[in-house]
Amino acid sequence: MNYRNDLILRAARGEKTERTPVWMMRQAGRILPEYREVRAQAGDFKTLVETPELAAEVTIQPVDILGVDAAIIFSDILVIPDAMGCTYEMVEARGPVFPQTIRSEADLKQIHIADPTELQYVTDAIALTVKQLDGRVPLIGFAGAPFTIFAYMTEGKGSKTFSIAKKLLYADPSFAHKLLGMITQSTIAYLKAQIAAGAAMVQLFDSWAGILSPAQYREFSGVYIREICAAITEVPVTIFAKGAWFALEDFGGYPCRTVGLDWNTDPAWARQLVGKDKTLQGNLDPCQLYASPELVTAATHQMLDQFAGGPHIANLGHGVYPDTPVDSVKAFIEAVKSYSKA
Ligand code: CP3
Repeated sequence: MNYRNDLILRAARGEKTERTPVWMMRQAGRILPEYREVRAQAGDFKTLVETPELAAEVTIQPVDILGVDAAIIFSDILVIPDAMGCTYEMVEARGPVFPQTIRSEADLKQIHIADPTELQYVTDAIALTVKQLDGRVPLIGFAGAPFTIFAYMTEGKGSKTFSIAKKLLYADPSFAHKLLGMITQSTIAYLKAQIAAGAAMVQLFDSWAGILSPAQYREFSGVYIREICAAITEVPVTIFAKGAWFALEDFGGYPCRTVGLDWNTDPAWARQLVGKDKTLQGNLDPCQLYASPELVTAATHQMLDQFAGGPHIANLGHGVYPDTPVDSVKAFIEAVKSYSKA
């Protein structure tokens, strides 16, 4: 595939680029009024995710409206448990709920390793998006990291502490490893199908990494992330493990290309731990975007200076919040483009 703008792919490979590429986690959906229109047309979240034409439309909106250097496919990390037989419902104003949780060896009989054909609505959406993007920018595919998916499948809903999921790691590690292994196998096949459909790079979201101790993280999350990185040889892989500052040195030795940083992590310190040859991604505090465009511009310049020592993909330190003013988002993207070129 020939891209008219392949800055993000070159930065991910560690090559020098004429300016820093920029995109935002959770850019598809949430902030744009144009998204909310399509969302209303679809009726509910799951229908939107499972209708390739509509998913492609909201995936491309941020490229058209915000001028980001990559699209990320509109979907959700929870499609993997769904395909495995642990279905979710997206409850308005509350978030995901799983009517049936998986908490024991006996519960494993209710689920299976997902086959990518069960997620054809995602690969169809990817193929359609790539066709409609027509080489303007690359498309990012994604999946949840196995521990974060485990957390939702066991807990059954969002949680501040995920104490049920954590309890199982301590109380029944053998079950935990079996479920994590099934999620890992499902995820590898799913990511390979996304790449075959046209995803030019992929990101793993370990949103709940920060609730584990360093030792637990290594045992129940890191090993599976490493296994996925080793299996995905076709395109660059990004690991974003929120709150897992203690795993940065390990990530430096994983067969991935890019390590995403949350806003709690100092970029220069992370660079020392991760090493010279990987690309770093991040890490402006999404809350910074509530400030005026002038303040956002200044903060973005500061952030870029902090990453100056090596290859960088500009992003936020976590997903953009739904009520963020679009003008400040635009100021962030413009500031990356003009300042990093100068
Ligand atoms: O990045 C993108 O723009 C692509 C789309 C995307 C969504 N979810 C769409 C979505 C991505 C990459 C995700 C990942 C995701 N989903 C994560 C990991 C990223 C992170 O923020 O840490 C997690 C933990 C989930 C699970 C999930 N999905 C929750 C907890 C919720 C409810 C709260 C929320 O975030 O809004 C969702 C729903 C969801 N996924 C929405 C969108 C646009 C909002 C639903 C709506 O429009 O009604």
